[in-house]
Amino acid sequence: MDEKIIAGNFKSNFNRKETISYLNKLNHIKTNHKIFIFPAISSIVENNFNNITLGAQNCYFAQNGAFTGEITLKHLEEFEINTIIIGHSERRNLFLESDDICAKKFHFFKEQKFCIFYCIGESLEIRNSNKELEFLKKQLEVIDLNYKNLIIAYEPIWAIGTGVNAELNQIKDCISYLKTLSKAPIIYGGSVNEDNAKDILKITDGILVGNASLNINKFNHIIKEGK
Ligand code: PGA
Repeated sequence: MDEKIIAGNFKSNFNRKETISYLNKLNHIKTNHKIFIFPAISSIVENNFNNITLGAQNCYFAQNGAFTGEITLKHLEEFEINTIIIGHSERRNLFLESDDICAKKFHFFKEQKFCIFYCIGESLEIRNSNKELEFLKKQLEVIDLNYKNLIIAYEPIWAIGTGVNAELNQIKDCISYLKTLSKAPIIYGGSVNEDNAKDILKITDGILVGNASLNINKFNHIIKEGK
């Protein structure tokens, strides 16, 4: 298979010790795919692995300052992190990040030339009313779709952490639509696992994996495109 983007989002799981042990094991993997790992922020380590790029799951859009509870660019620079996820549905839904906040983050990190995984995705309600394409377009209206370090992650909310992944034709339809809006790589996320990854990789530029990335054997199978 051609080179794909395979990203693991650890969310708020592994602590520092667990993260380091995982990364040391994963770093031995031989693959032509581009591997990204997004650890919990307090588990972040120097971004100097040979075969893995580390990224931040979130960061406030400032160099530093009075933003209690947040980390800022300064903290990522210390670890040479220049990859970030913006707009993950958990940030949007649990922490009330609006399109406006996501856009502010996007523009700030674009200025810093970060590789940006910009997440979009519809709710079940929107999907059931057949308005998903309209909705995705609207979510993308606030960012620069020609930005050269952009990766768009299509993650239907109803498929995240639910064990219900979108069907291949649903993924295909959204990806082809998004391809008409941007030349950026379009990846899929939402209950990707070692059984469905290969088929999803065939029709996308990559995958963003949550739960299944927490098990290194499963993530290995995903990277190797099968068991
Ligand atoms: P999941 O998470 O693989 O556990 O559904 C995906 C994501 O949140 O990016």
